Amino acid sequence: MSQGKATILVTGGAGYIGSHAVFALKQAGYDVIILDNLSYGHRELVEQVLKVELIVGDISDRALLDQLFTTHNITAVMHFAAFIAVGESVTDPAKYYRNNVAGTLTLLEAMVAASINKFVFSSTCALYGVPKTVPLVEDHPQDPISPYATSKWMVERMLSDFDQAYGLKSVCFRYFNAAGAESTGLLGEDHVPETHLIPLVLFAALGKRESVSIFGTDYPTRDGTCIRDYIHVTDLAQAHVLGLEYLLKEGDSEVFNLGNGSGFSVREVIESAKEVTRKEIKIVERDRRPGDPPVLVGSSDKAKNVLGWNPQYPDVKDILAHAWQWHQQRHGAYFSREVPALLEEETRETRQNIEATRPQELKT
Ligand SMILES: NC(=O)c1ccc[n+]([C@@H]2O[C@H](COP(=O)([O-])OP(=O)(O)OC[C@H]3O[C@@H](n4cnc5c(N)ncnc54)[C@H](O)[C@@H]3O)[C@@H](O)[C@H]2O)c1
Repeated sequence: MSQGKATILVTGGAGYIGSHAVFALKQAGYDVIILDNLSYGHRELVEQVLKVELIVGDISDRALLDQLFTTHNITAVMHFAAFIAVGESVTDPAKYYRNNVAGTLTLLEAMVAASINKFVFSSTCALYGVPKTVPLVEDHPQDPISPYATSKWMVERMLSDFDQAYGLKSVCFRYFNAAGAESTGLLGEDHVPETHLIPLVLFAALGKRESVSIFGTDYPTRDGTCIRDYIHVTDLAQAHVLGLEYLLKEGDSEVFNLGNGSGFSVREVIESAKEVTRKEIKIVERDRRPGDPPVLVGSSDKAKNVLGWNPQYPDVKDILAHAWQWHQQRHGAYFSREVPALLEEETRETRQNIEATRPQELKT
C-alpha cells in the first residue's frame, strides 16, 4: 500500500537523469514506479540502488499502460524515456520519431483515458536551433536542426494541444547539458555509447580513452572553442520535484529552461578536469562539426522565479568532482552483480566495498 505523498510513474527511470529524479522523488517522500524497457537503462541500478518497483516495458505498449494505470493509483507521470543520440537521429530519424513522438503519444493517450492529467517532460535546449540571442530565454524562436530535437519540439506541440483539448497539464523542462553525478557517488552517468563531453574527458583521465577531441578551435569565443551550459544532474532532479509540486498545486502548463546561465568552453572544461582529477588529459584538435553553434547558454530565471528553483552546484568543478567520484568508484558503469550500496546509509566502509568490488573492464 502507498505510504508516500503520491505515486509517480517515472518512464526512463533506469537511465541517467531519470534515476537521479527517482532518487530526489524518494527523498521528497513520493512513491515511485519506474517504467523502462531497459533498451539503455540499467536493471541493477533500479533493483539494487534505487529499490523501487520496476516495470520492464515500453511506453508504446498501450495494453501494458492501461493495466498499469488501472492497477496503480498514479497521480502524475515524469517522462524521461526517449532515445537521445543526436547523430543517430540524423542517420535513423524513423527510430527517433517512432520512439520519442509516437511512443509519447501512446503514453499521453493512455493517461487521458485513465484521467491522469499531470505530466513532467524532458525536453531540450536543442529545439532552439542556432541561437539568435544568448542567453536563450523560453520565448526564443524554435528551429530544431536534428530529428532528435524535432521529436522533442513535436511533443511540446502535442502537449499544448492536449492541454487545450483534454486539460492535461504539463511542465516541459528544456535542459542544457546534463552532467555530474549524485553527490555520494551511488548514481552516475552510464551511457552506451557515451557521447557527452564530461564523461569522455573523465574516461581519458582514467586511461580508458587515449584522448579527447576538441571539434573546432576557431570559434568567435574567448578561447576559440565552443561554449556550453552544464547543469548538475542533481539540480535537474530537484527541478523535477518542484515542477511536479507546481502541477500538484494545480499550476498551469509551462515550459522552463534548466541551465546554469554561465557557460564554459570545451577547453575550460578539460582544464578544470585536469585540476579535479590531477591527471594529464591528451587533447586532439579537430575541425568544426556541422551544426555546432559557438555559444549555447540559457537563462533559467523563469524556473527560479516561478518554481523557486535554486541550483546547488553551479560550479563546473563541483559537477566534475562528483562525476569523477562516480567514475573512480564504478569506472563509469553499472555492473550486473551485487552492489554494496544503500541509499540512506552511505558510509566510508560502503565506499571502500564499492571500490574493492568495482569491475576491471568498462562495458564499452
Ligand atoms: N543527457 C542530456 O544532457 C539531456 C539533455 C536534454 C534532454 N535530455 C532528455 O532527458 C531524458 C533522459 O536522458 P538520459 O540522458 O537520462 O538518457 P538515458 O538513455 O540514460 O535514459 C533514457 C531511458 O529511457 C529508456 N527508454 C527509452 N525508450 C523507451 C521506451 N520506448 N519505453 C521505455 N523506456 C524507454 C531507456 O532504457 C533509458 O533507461 C531524455 O528524454 C533526453 O532526451 C537529456
